[in-house]
Formats: sequence, structure tokens, C-alpha cells
Amino acid sequence: MRNTLKLIATALIASLSLVANAQPDGRIVRSKRQWIKERRPELMEMLRSQMFGREPGKAPDLHATILEESADAFGGLATRRQIKLSFDKEEKYYLTLLMYIPNDRKGPVPAFLGANFKGNHATTTDPAVLMPTEDKLATYAPGYQVEPRNTNGHRWEYEYILKHGYAVATFCYNDVDPDFHDGFHNGVHQLMDGDKPRDGESWATISAWAWGLSRCLDYLETVKEVNAKKVAVIGHSRLGKTSLWAGATDQRFALVISNDSGCSGAAIARRKFGETLEVINRNFPHWFCDNYKSYNGREEKMPWDQHELIAMIAPRPVYVASASEDDWADPVGEYFSLVGAASVYKLFGYEGITDRKVPEIEHPVVVGRMGHHIRRGEHNVRLYDWQQFVSFADRFLK
Ligand code: GCU
Repeated sequence: MRNTLKLIATALIASLSLVANAQPDGRIVRSKRQWIKERRPELMEMLRSQMFGREPGKAPDLHATILEESADAFGGLATRRQIKLSFDKEEKYYLTLLMYIPNDRKGPVPAFLGANFKGNHATTTDPAVLMPTEDKLATYAPGYQVEPRNTNGHRWEYEYILKHGYAVATFCYNDVDPDFHDGFHNGVHQLMDGDKPRDGESWATISAWAWGLSRCLDYLETVKEVNAKKVAVIGHSRLGKTSLWAGATDQRFALVISNDSGCSGAAIARRKFGETLEVINRNFPHWFCDNYKSYNGREEKMPWDQHELIAMIAPRPVYVASASEDDWADPVGEYFSLVGAASVYKLFGYEGITDRKVPEIEHPVVVGRMGHHIRRGEHNVRLYDWQQFVSFADRFLK
């Protein structure tokens, strides 16, 4: 946070021209209609062709098989359901969705949906959660080690979420596309593209994870205990970049949360603070489409910036969370993308976060349909974060 405060001045300068309803040629989008009909499609085209790549449509044969179900999860608090969600008839491509649904419910409940890093079993102490399957593990990065149960349990406050009346669903991101540069041979690119040659606009791995989130939403639309019109998509870090892109491309998501999403997520690229495009594209060449690499070291030449990704979520509620020690993700830049997107929320008649003073640590701010906080501490997801997400979601999804 010390750094954060020091950077306010820089942030002000860097963000002065970043207003999402202004086009690069200086024209201002003045109406909701103009945003929806002209500018949003134009930006969508830009983000697809220059950053995430062009995602395909639905899966050829999406179908669900319940692998396990029990109403006694967490001492009877919830029903646990584990689902094999297959994308093709042969069931070669699938993810395993872990769902908890609160037992104390009157009708269909709202839900949180997010991918996880280390497998469903690593999100909880619940001993009934299935371990990753051998056929899936064979596609993961060479040398991949299965983590013990509950390794990332602190990131998934299931009991807290369930007690507040939400269902929660998660899957391991590697199931959709393994997180290493495998030339797009493992994972859903193969299924959806076959042998089609790749080009600069071909979809990459973040786009594939976002596609997976949308397929889970297709499934949630068939689950009677869940209100699929009230699903919040959430993600941490690289999966926070993913939740923002899922929220932009799939307007069925009712609310979007990014946690510590940083570079190429919520953080304004032009600030070049913490991780830069050159670094992210070098270390993770499979995350974005090839055209994105042409902006390495040329952030100021980008015909968009990340506040416009946030604006694509408008008018749906959006929450951006940061952590005070997470300089790599640039908390100031993450905050300023909200400020930059507020003008678009305004076009829809909603207030947004416009204060150019970065909020203090652990002083959550909610204005209109935007929410923000900086948690004290490291790059992670903690109970404090979930408390803010749930209270934000309560305003819109209850
Ligand atoms: C790396 C990467 C970040 C990413 C993070 C994560 O630190 O540089 O861009 O957000 O991993 O996903 O944990």
C-alpha cells in the first residue's frame, strides 16, 4: 500500500485520457444505443482480434452425467453434486464440475461459478470430492504433480457462501485447456478447431477457459435448483483475467468478479507497472492470441486499454478486488480501470466509481453497479474477499 499511495500521482496522469466512452479518434459515445450498436461491437472485435482470439461457439455435444451426489455435504448444509460435463459425443473432452447447493432454500438460488487451479479436491476438506482422473492428468503439463486435498481450500469459502444462500460451482482449469504451451494440442482447441491452421487471431488459452465457463453456464441453465439468470462469474489472477473475458463475451453472466487479475485483466496496461505485456507474453505465450504480442513494449500504441474490457460488462455489476502487497498486479491500475469504465455505466443510467483517489486498504467501495476493495496482504483469495463479494452479490442477485 505504501507503493500504492506513492503511485497515486502517476495513476492520475496515466489515466486522464482513459474514459471508456471516448474512442481513439476522440469521438465520444454519447448514448446507450450508440454504445450497444457501434462502440461495443467495435471493441469486441478489437479484443477478439488483438488480445484473446476468436472463441468458437457452443460445444458440439454438451451433455452432463452425474458422477456422485449427496445431500449431506458440510454436515447437511449443502447438496454436493459432481458432474462430468462432456463437450463431445465420445466424451473425450470434458471437465468435472463440483457443485454445492444450499439445502436451506425456497426456490432456485443464485450461484458463484469459477475455475480453480489445482483440482476440485484441492478446494476443500470434503473427502468425497473426486480426485483428478488419469486420462486428464495425462494431458496436463509434463511433470504435473497432483496436490493434496484442501491445498487451496482457503480460496473457496464454501460454507460461508452456502450459508449466505448461494450455490457454488467450480472445475479445474486444466480440464478445459492445460496451462502450458502445448501448441494447442491438448485441450478444447483440438476439439473445436481440428486441424485448422492457426493465425494471429486464433483463440488461445484464456479464451478457452472463458469458453469453459460459458459451457458450465449452459449446464447451469438446466439445473432446477439454480437460477441461471443470477450467476456470478469469479476468478483469481489468471482466472480473474478469464472471468472478465467470460463476462464480456457471455452476457448471460449476471455479475462479474475479478480478484488480483492484474496485467491483461483489470490493470491499465499503459501504466506498465508490475507485469508488462512483454513479460506476460514471454512467460505465458499460450494465454493470448499471437497478435497481442505485437504490443509488447508498445502499450501506449494499443488502440484500447483494460478499462474498456471492464466497460464491456456494463450494465451488469462488476467487482474488482486487489491485494495491498500485490504490486505485480498493480492495484492502482486495477482501480483505475473501474474509474475509466464508469462513463459507460453512466450511459446506462448507473453511477460508477469515479473518485480518482485510490481507496484505503480494506475500505470497500460500492457505487452503483461497481465494487472495489484492496485487501491487506498478499496475492491470494481470502475470507475477507469472499465477504465483500457475497455482500456485493446480495445487492443484485437476491
Ligand atoms: C503470474 C502471472 C500473472 C498471473 C499470476 C497468476 O504471476 O505473471 O499474470 O495473474 O501468475 O495467475 O497467479
